[in-house]
Amino acid sequence: MQLYYTAAIHERYQFESLVWLSVTAPGLARIAQPGQYALVRPSRSLDPLLWPVVFLAGADAAKGEVELIIDPRDPALAWLLDLPAGVNLDLCAPLGTPFAPAPATHTLLLAGVGTTLPALLFVARRYAGRLSIALLLAGDKGYLPPPFLLPETVEVQTSAAGEGGLFELLAAHSPSSPIRWADQVLFALPPSLLGQAAAAMRSARLRWDRGLAQVVVAGPLPCGLGICRACQIETRNGWQRRCVEGPVFDLRDLR
Ligand code: FES
Repeated sequence: MQLYYTAAIHERYQFESLVWLSVTAPGLARIAQPGQYALVRPSRSLDPLLWPVVFLAGADAAKGEVELIIDPRDPALAWLLDLPAGVNLDLCAPLGTPFAPAPATHTLLLAGVGTTLPALLFVARRYAGRLSIALLLAGDKGYLPPPFLLPETVEVQTSAAGEGGLFELLAAHSPSSPIRWADQVLFALPPSLLGQAAAAMRSARLRWDRGLAQVVVAGPLPCGLGICRACQIETRNGWQRRCVEGPVFDLRDLR
């Protein structure tokens, strides 16, 4: 399978503090899945190592375009912020295991914070119209992806009260918690919030089987290719690499 693409920036917009890019990469747009990421570097760069990681925010096979959202607080991505349309990027993608909504799922709850949030936007846009979707986003003011990127059929709630705002939106102990009605819950979280997410699942559902909750886990991916083992996370199946066996895991498998 092709893994390396040269992609020209097609459009660039700034949404408060975030920068949204669409790049032309027809081969990648055909196969990219929500939850996967790209290693990105300037085209023709001779640096073979440490390409920074960007999670894919969308892919349109008909247009041949892939979308990226750049957070300026990541110093490894600073060089991407001001690039104009027409500039070429090298992408190594799509990498990692994607989200896998079950065929029987009708209602999907998406909830997340941080650098893997673009993966939830990608899910929402991929499955809007086919599934009933609610998307809960939390983070810092000015750093949340704008809801108008999403189809009208997706119900969006945001909290600009930092990462902790996510669990207020989930209101896990309340009878009206959205976790209660979802056929599946897909999270985007850093490792520090996995325990809180598991607790929210346990308090909202009497029964929690594998497959009910998946999570795309944020954190550094120094090589992104399964070589350095600096990205390992402890699971019920032993230590696994977030970049290869993840970054999407079943939440029940994480300790
Ligand atoms: S980032 Fe190097 S093995 Fe995962």
